[in-house]
Amino acid sequence: MKTLKTCLSKKDVLSLMDVNPEEIFSILKLASRFKKESRRRKSDSLLKGKVLGMIFQKPSTRTRVSFETGMYQLGGSVVYLSTNDIQLARGESIEDTARSLSLYLNCIVARLYCHVDIQRLAMYASVPVINGLSDTFHPCQILADMLTIQEQKKKLEGLNVTWIGDGNNVCNDLVLGCAKTGMNIAVACPRGYEPSHQVVMLGKREGQKTGSEISITDDPAAAARDADVVVTDTFISIGRNGEKITRNKAFLPRYQVNTELMKLAKKDAIFMHCLPATRGQEVTSDVIDGKASVVWEEAENRLHVQKALMCLLISTTKGA
Ligand code: CP
Ligand code: NVA
Repeated sequence: MKTLKTCLSKKDVLSLMDVNPEEIFSILKLASRFKKESRRRKSDSLLKGKVLGMIFQKPSTRTRVSFETGMYQLGGSVVYLSTNDIQLARGESIEDTARSLSLYLNCIVARLYCHVDIQRLAMYASVPVINGLSDTFHPCQILADMLTIQEQKKKLEGLNVTWIGDGNNVCNDLVLGCAKTGMNIAVACPRGYEPSHQVVMLGKREGQKTGSEISITDDPAAAARDADVVVTDTFISIGRNGEKITRNKAFLPRYQVNTELMKLAKKDAIFMHCLPATRGQEVTSDVIDGKASVVWEEAENRLHVQKALMCLLISTTKGA
């Protein structure tokens, strides 16, 4: 099996900043293999005897279940650790938690509010750490999205991807994913809700190598024109309920993906959403449940890319 080359003793994936284009394509290739094998009901024991720790501070449906199922399908097992149930809740430091858990586990996936906390966890863990969603990034989602786009469009390079709505955690990694694989990305968001400036700068630098172009606008119609892929996400991410009124005012009705907006995209454009969706807010039911929508393929692909990611990370870790 081809491994993630840059790994010396262990490698973390906290955002797509941590993965180069060659590694992205290795993950997608292995994920496609796993997907084909799962269709033939073939299972693997590549991670037999390995244990994944899952530290979750926020709720999750897809991330939790796809990681758990993926690990079982590869012959390994998981320990689910809600942050309420471990000593973190009583004030044990992230650093000591990371050191202790590394004595038992082969890999950790963490869904924490604060990205800096995941960075601290990764710095002190001696096993690979995967970000299962922080306030700033969601790398596993975008790996699954890239697999979905590749399946639907038979390529990535040169495609026009449009993000409509909040320049949030999912959007940040989408910008990086597009930049690293040669897809153009147009982000349309209200002023003040743009993706991270650092991410856009990094993306533009990557784009000089891959030909990807990044544009940020507040005009959804301009961004949607000629799109191959239209993507959105909730306007109110986990933990932002207190901003509900201000956010709904900033985003609605202008930044909703509806049939009118989809008409501006290419005829064969696809619609994507990481889920969970709020129908009638960021997307209308006729779009998410319509012909262009590939949200269920996208959700399924979480399983396949995460299996690939775990295999590549765990198998390259020294002593694994
Ligand atoms: N897309 C996603 O990460 O879904 P969950 O929040 O259900 O894990
Ligand atoms: N942006 C959303 C993604 C959920 C998968 C959130 O952070 O809640």
